[in-house]
Amino acid sequence: AMAAERAQAMATCTAPVNIAVIKYWGKRDTDLILPINSSLSVTLHQDQLKTTTTAAASRDFTEDRLWLNGKEADVGHPRVQACLREVRRLARKRRGGGEDTAAFSLSYKIHIASENNFPTAAGLASSAAGYACLVSALARLYGVEEELSEVARRGSGSACRSMFGGFVQWQRGERPDGTDSLALQVAPETHWPELRVLVLVVSGEKKPVGSTVGMQTSVETSPLLKHRAEVVVPERLAQMMRHIRERDFEGFGQLAMRDSNQFHATCLDTFPPIFYLTDLSRHIIALAHRYNAHHGHTKVAYTFDAGPNAVIFALADTVAEFVEVVRRSFPPATNGDQFVRGLPVGSAALSQELVAAVVTEPLPGAVQYILHTKPGPGPQLVDDPSQHLLGADGLP
Ligand code: DP6
Repeated sequence: AMAAERAQAMATCTAPVNIAVIKYWGKRDTDLILPINSSLSVTLHQDQLKTTTTAAASRDFTEDRLWLNGKEADVGHPRVQACLREVRRLARKRRGGGEDTAAFSLSYKIHIASENNFPTAAGLASSAAGYACLVSALARLYGVEEELSEVARRGSGSACRSMFGGFVQWQRGERPDGTDSLALQVAPETHWPELRVLVLVVSGEKKPVGSTVGMQTSVETSPLLKHRAEVVVPERLAQMMRHIRERDFEGFGQLAMRDSNQFHATCLDTFPPIFYLTDLSRHIIALAHRYNAHHGHTKVAYTFDAGPNAVIFALADTVAEFVEVVRRSFPPATNGDQFVRGLPVGSAALSQELVAAVVTEPLPGAVQYILHTKPGPGPQLVDDPSQHLLGADGLP
């Protein structure tokens, strides 16, 4: 006989942001979110950037509800609904198999609360962490243990890569139903302990065209994007996997920069064109190249997504010097307090030769702050009930 159904259940998870080094841009199926090419990313550490989500189910809830950063949001959003539907489908399948007899009823309404540990205004809030976290918390709530990148993908394409830590590939897949369009871990975060990430947060201005709309226009109009997906990415993906396996920063960095540049070239090739890079982005790109040229090899590598923030990869022994170069190139507007956040950064004295070769025409205040982080693990379960974002009454 079935055990008595529980009146209420609650689960909390955290999930990371990821940054692609082989970019995803373009869907072959906009409903299932199936990409035209595979992509590869680095999962960033949750100590610096994470989403936390609590999901609760109760006999007493009268409707599904959702809160984002404390404000009620539309739970009827088609992508939220797709994730909810898929997790519930997996839960039903499991229970049909006779497991989990003491669980609550699948017909209970649910409440979801989600928060970021970083300012949404900074433009770092890729939907990736949000949907990876939603799916992780729902799965925990419903007792689903299957591979869930396929479900997270339904929230946002890049979210499937946030379901794993370290270095992650999203395989484009071949099947029309998307069952082989999954994320796979290429290497764990411990694989490359010296790798560091600097996020140069440039401004709170909103991006002109969202990725979902932008990439669709690119698919419809850019011949370069078609060539990229068919010819360039398959070659680059294999190369990038090798650079990561061998911890070859020179190869990794060069390819990351080239792939970011090609993604932005496909945006310019889109008609009407889309501009995500700004004058400041171009300043940062030129700065990175001057810095590498001065040292005679690739010490830093930039990558830019559908917004103006720059993400810089470097090895740990380069961070202090490059941060000082950024500080000299973009002098902080105020007293420089909190200019560097996240992992500690040592101090570095710059040689006159370096300053002369690399620091040209400083732009005061152009970089708001630098966030120092590193590769990190995938979604985590939060065991401590005092960390739930919903109270016993099911409200934030
Ligand atoms: C430029 O995953 O945000 O960041 O699938 O429509 O939700 P949707 O798009 P999204 O696109 C991310 C694009 C990118 C590159 C990348 O992360 O690979």
